[in-house]
Amino acid sequence: MIVENEKIPFDINAIRAEFPVLKQKIYGKDLIYFDNGATSQKPQVVLDAINKYYSQENSNIHRGVHHLSQVATSHYEEARTIIQKYINAPLQEEVLFNSGTTAGINMVAFCFGELLTEGDEIVISAMEHHSNIVPWQMLCERKKCILKVIPMTKKGELEMDVFDNLLSNKTKLVAVSHISNSLGTINPIEEIIEKAHDIGAKVLIDGAQSIQHMKVDVQALDCDFYAFSGHKVFGPTGVGVLYGKKEILDSMPPYQGGGDMISKVTFEKTTYNTLPHKFEAGTPHIAGGICLGTAIEYLSKLDIDAIQKHEYELAQYAEQELLNIDGLRIIGTAKNKTSVVSFVIEGIHPFDIGTLLDKQGIAVRTGHHCTQPVMSFFEIPGTIRASFAFYNTKNEIDIFIKAVNRSLEMLR
Ligand code: ALA
Repeated sequence: MIVENEKIPFDINAIRAEFPVLKQKIYGKDLIYFDNGATSQKPQVVLDAINKYYSQENSNIHRGVHHLSQVATSHYEEARTIIQKYINAPLQEEVLFNSGTTAGINMVAFCFGELLTEGDEIVISAMEHHSNIVPWQMLCERKKCILKVIPMTKKGELEMDVFDNLLSNKTKLVAVSHISNSLGTINPIEEIIEKAHDIGAKVLIDGAQSIQHMKVDVQALDCDFYAFSGHKVFGPTGVGVLYGKKEILDSMPPYQGGGDMISKVTFEKTTYNTLPHKFEAGTPHIAGGICLGTAIEYLSKLDIDAIQKHEYELAQYAEQELLNIDGLRIIGTAKNKTSVVSFVIEGIHPFDIGTLLDKQGIAVRTGHHCTQPVMSFFEIPGTIRASFAFYNTKNEIDIFIKAVNRSLEMLR
């Protein structure tokens, strides 16, 4: 459980020592891992927790009277409490485990979507990940609803005056990312939530790129849903969380049917379990849930404000150094941005740079980053994206800049 006030000082060397993957060489070079937007690395405590679960506790949960099942159940539910406290959710049952952000958004699109009728409107933004576009398109097709999109400027900032005009009494849900995965823009979600609530709409925040970078307090935000992925927040893949306000979750029909989500089953009629189980059919990713709790507990002991400052400085420094390169253009120049630096270089395909960086031990993501509409908007095939975590350093950025220059010498 979280021990209040037991904070680990922000000592970058000590922090890096906690991440074994960072100690290895790739093609004979020290690994520089700048693909944290895609997935983050795992600290030793999480690796130990995975090992401990499978070597000492492995059992199904909520189903057994035997010792191991009781242990696994109590650790799984403790993890839920750790996450509840970390995001400041009022109730433990408002924290639903699933397989990740995509699953959370699809669940809301399906279940909240069941409450919508023809002509109802959903508002998303121009910088959404495909996982916060396609589920709404599927819903609109199914229920004959209308999807509206908040446009953005060439800097990658949402046009908030247009947002005001998109809202009406037909708007039932606004679904936006907290931080854009391809541009790094931090969206003004407080304002979005307030304005949406003023006209009676609910708000879903895609937190896949934010919870690992800044404090998230769902009560202070007053969002109705907040979705995030375990693997981006230093936990395992295949597990994630959807926070939802109890009264809204209670009003929604279940998602999948199966074990654990029922109260009573007969062939004539089934009644459903209470929250959170109503939305957690089947055996979940038990090790994933427990170890996500371990990852969040680890994060909660770090100074999140120091992390945010460090990552902001890394992104600023990387941009400043990259801009010395001829023909290089930063994609996404919002005033309020963090942790992601996306760029293109005239006449060079992003994939070629990514491949040459890899040969120098540097991991970045290249391509459209599951945001094809963003790439279309900027009229580019894709970007080279360096995305930082708190264990990255300025020294790594210096090596990265040299490596980009070396790659360009080979390509030009
Ligand atoms: N959504 C992840 C990314 O931005 C995979 O790379």
